Amino acid sequence: MNSLLVYYSRTGKTKKVGNLISEKISCDVEEIFDTKKRSGILGFIKSGRDAMRKKLTILKEIDKNPDLYDLVIIGTPIWASNMSTPIRTYISEHKDKFKNVAFFCTEGSKGGVKCFKNMEKLCNKKPMATLEINKKDIKKEIYLDKIKDFVEEIKS
Ligand SMILES: Cc1cc2nc3c(=O)[nH]c(=O)nc-3n(C[C@H](O)[C@H](O)[C@H](O)COP(=O)(O)O)c2cc1C
Repeated sequence: MNSLLVYYSRTGKTKKVGNLISEKISCDVEEIFDTKKRSGILGFIKSGRDAMRKKLTILKEIDKNPDLYDLVIIGTPIWASNMSTPIRTYISEHKDKFKNVAFFCTEGSKGGVKCFKNMEKLCNKKPMATLEINKKDIKKEIYLDKIKDFVEEIKS
């Protein structure tokens, strides 16, 4: 199955998990960039507000056409118990091109379950697999086992 892994990462955690997944499956990778500044405390506040209001943003131009892939793996940080605004925008703009989807997220402590439900609804597709990684998982290195299980589910 030819796969595309797409992620947004504000502070690097989702990027780290995305890179580990892409090392285990041969896939193309697309990092999404927002045109809106989201760094610092002001960026944090704006991001939380945007996520709560389910707002969209303007993304920088993407490189890969999701239409060309059997599976699109989408990764997001949890913002206010939901998907990040850049990922909401990406899905809204490209969902009609997705054949199959899988989701992963990183979070402080919780929100993944609700986020995945919302992503499924927005994509109008049941994910082949989901992966939720929180701060504790990373500290205890449990996340490596979780990534392994997620990759096996996708491959099976
Ligand atoms: C605006 C904002 C809202 C957040 N809301 C939540 C939340 O509801 N639940 C949670 O567990 N973590 C929350 N977090 C923490 C991030 O999900 C977590 O740090 C994530 O791993 C960051 O990923 P990144 O480094 O790829 O940006 C929030 C972070 C931001 C910036």
